[in-house]
Amino acid sequence: MNNKPALIGGESEFPRSIPFARPTLPPFEELEQGLRDIVESGMVTKGKYLKEYEKAISDMLETPYCLGVVNCTMGLFMLLKALGIKGEVIVPSFTFMSSFHVIELLGLTPVFVDCEKDTFTIDPQKVEEAITPETSAIMAVSIFGNPPDIKSLEDIAGRHNLKFIMDSAHSFGTLYYGRPMGSYGDGEVFSTSATKLVATGEGGVISTKHKEIYEFIKIFREYGNTGDYNCEVAGINGRLSEFHALLGLKAVPKLEEMALARNHIAKTYRENLTNMPGIIFQKIRDGCRSSYKDFAVIIDDIQFGLNRDTLATALLAEGIPTRKYFHPPGHLQKVYRKYKDRYTGRLEVTEYLSKNSLILPVYSHMSPDTVRKIVNAVEKIYRFAPEIRK
Ligand SMILES: Cc1ncc(COP(=O)(O)O)c(C=O)c1O
Repeated sequence: MNNKPALIGGESEFPRSIPFARPTLPPFEELEQGLRDIVESGMVTKGKYLKEYEKAISDMLETPYCLGVVNCTMGLFMLLKALGIKGEVIVPSFTFMSSFHVIELLGLTPVFVDCEKDTFTIDPQKVEEAITPETSAIMAVSIFGNPPDIKSLEDIAGRHNLKFIMDSAHSFGTLYYGRPMGSYGDGEVFSTSATKLVATGEGGVISTKHKEIYEFIKIFREYGNTGDYNCEVAGINGRLSEFHALLGLKAVPKLEEMALARNHIAKTYRENLTNMPGIIFQKIRDGCRSSYKDFAVIIDDIQFGLNRDTLATALLAEGIPTRKYFHPPGHLQKVYRKYKDRYTGRLEVTEYLSKNSLILPVYSHMSPDTVRKIVNAVEKIYRFAPEIRK
C-alpha cells in the first residue's frame, strides 16, 4: 500500500469518508411502543411525552423548571425575551452564530468580547471591561462542552446588577465542579440538534430555577396565548412535538454513558496526538468535565509544518472531514460589519483560535479503530508535511 497521504498521491484508510458527527440514537425497538402510542392516540403535540421528558431533564439537571422547545436558537430568544433585556448584551465572539444572532434579532446590541486562550471560553476580565451603562446582560457559552468560569461571571453580573444567561447548547454531559449544568444564572438553554449528545432531530431545552421565567416562557412558546386567544404578550410557536420529546426521553438515561464514551475518545486523541509538535489541546476547566460535544485542537503551523487549513484539506483527502468552528467569528461576520471599528484588533485570542483551531470527528459511538485511523492519518500528514507544503 502506498503510505503517502492521499493529497500527494497516496491512499486513504477511509476511502468512503467517515462521518464528522453522528447522533447516537436508541434502537428502533425502544421507540416502537412510544411511536405507536403517539400515532394511535393522535396526540402528536402537547401530550404526555413532552411532560415526561421535561420531568426527566429537570431531575437529571437538578433544576426545578425545564421546558422542551423547538430549538436552542429560539430558546435563547425566548429566555432573553422573558428577562426583558434592553440595550447591550455581552457575548463571546468565538461561538456559534445563534448566540449573537438572537441578540441582534431582538433589536439589542451584541457586544463581542474575547475568550481565554486555553479554555476557549469567554474571558471574565474582558467581560468586566466591556460593561457600559447600556449593558443589561451577559451571555456565556460552554465552548465545545467546556464550561466557562461561571463563578466569576455570576459574581460580575451580581456586582453590576446584570442578568446572566448560559448558552448551554453544548452542555448536556458537561459537569461544572461535579454538578450538571442547568441551574446557573437566570437560565440556560441546551440544544438537542443532531450533533449533540441528546439528539432529538431538532430541539432545545430551557432550564431555570426561577418560577416566573418558566411561567412566562410556557405562555410565550404558545404564541402568548393563555387559552382565551386574548394575548397580553406577542409570543411565538416554540413548542417541541411529541416525536421529538420521545427521542429525548429515551436519550436521557444514556447521557452519562455517552459523555463517558466521548471523554474516553478525547483521552485517546490526546494521548496519541500529544507526541506531535504543534498540536495544542483545549484545556478543560480544572475540576470540570467537558461533554466533548466537539474535540478541538489548535494547529501551530511552524511546529506542525502545515497550517490548519492545509491539514484540513489533507485530512479530507484521507476521507476525514473536519470543521473550522467558529470561522469567521462573530465580530468579523458581514452582518456585524457595522460594529467593525469598535472591534478592530481587540479580539486577538478569538481571531487566533478562529484561524488555527480545528475540530476532529467525534460521536458517542465512535469505535476505537476509527479514532486510531484518524490519529494515523494525522501522523502520516505530519511526516509528509515538507512534501505537502511544496
Ligand atoms: C453554541 C451554540 N448555540 C446555539 C446553537 C443553536 O442550536 P439549535 O440548532 O438547536 O438552534 C448551537 C448549535 O449548534 C450552538 O453551537
